[in-house]
Amino acid sequence: MDKKPIGMFDSGVGGLTVYKEVKNKMPNEKIIYLGDTINFPYGSKSKESIIELSKKCVEFLLSKNVKMIIIACGTATSQALEELQKMYDIPIIGIINPTVTYVTERGFKDIGVIATRGTIRSNSWEKKIKEKNPQINVYNQECPLLAPMAEEGWTENQIAELVIKEYLKDFHGKKMDALILGCTHYPLYENIIKQELPNVEIINTGTRIVEFIEKSDFFEKQTLNEVEKDEIYLTDTECNFLNVAKNILKQDVEIRSINKN
Ligand code: DGL
Repeated sequence: MDKKPIGMFDSGVGGLTVYKEVKNKMPNEKIIYLGDTINFPYGSKSKESIIELSKKCVEFLLSKNVKMIIIACGTATSQALEELQKMYDIPIIGIINPTVTYVTERGFKDIGVIATRGTIRSNSWEKKIKEKNPQINVYNQECPLLAPMAEEGWTENQIAELVIKEYLKDFHGKKMDALILGCTHYPLYENIIKQELPNVEIINTGTRIVEFIEKSDFFEKQTLNEVEKDEIYLTDTECNFLNVAKNILKQDVEIRSINKN
């Protein structure tokens, strides 16, 4: 039984959508979450910067003695996962592979992907999907405003509806089986996205990650009374993280600055 915590990182609140899925299914696992808020947004940065920032996140989590790391960020997964896996001797998983396994096994033929500009530029989703099945059609759409709006907590207002309508407008004329929320901030807009595309399966990558971990050897059952409290760290606490996090997790949240552990 490995009682060490699971480490997770994102640029901000988005990774909490993954945290929530993991916590729901694995309440006995302690999680150390890092929001790299000082460097938000990741979506508009170069691959080189994303790799550097991701390395720092991984190193912080390693200093907390985690047993595995989940990159709870589509942008960092798309551009830094392979580098990080080469560099560190600890299981590191991202949001893309488990999701690609799901969509290809489900036999979907037409798949939309929405994500940050950096993720779409990397073309990682399309490459990975086509490696498994070149017949699948992939439709990409970058949505650069959605992560910053989610950091503000603007995920269920009229502005959010308008912005999402605009980003999804090209999908309407297409036959589409599924839409991958390729940025971990986007499940926060799930209600509006479902309204816009009612006949399309909306895919939350957090759910796919949990499925993947449950099937793998990383996950071991522990008894409830041994669970320690999760820890949420930020690289900069001067932001709206706390309010948004409370709303996402529907509970009180305590945040710590990485500089004052
Ligand atoms: N949550 C992120 C992602 O999954 C990062 C968004 C951003 O920092 O731009 O891509």
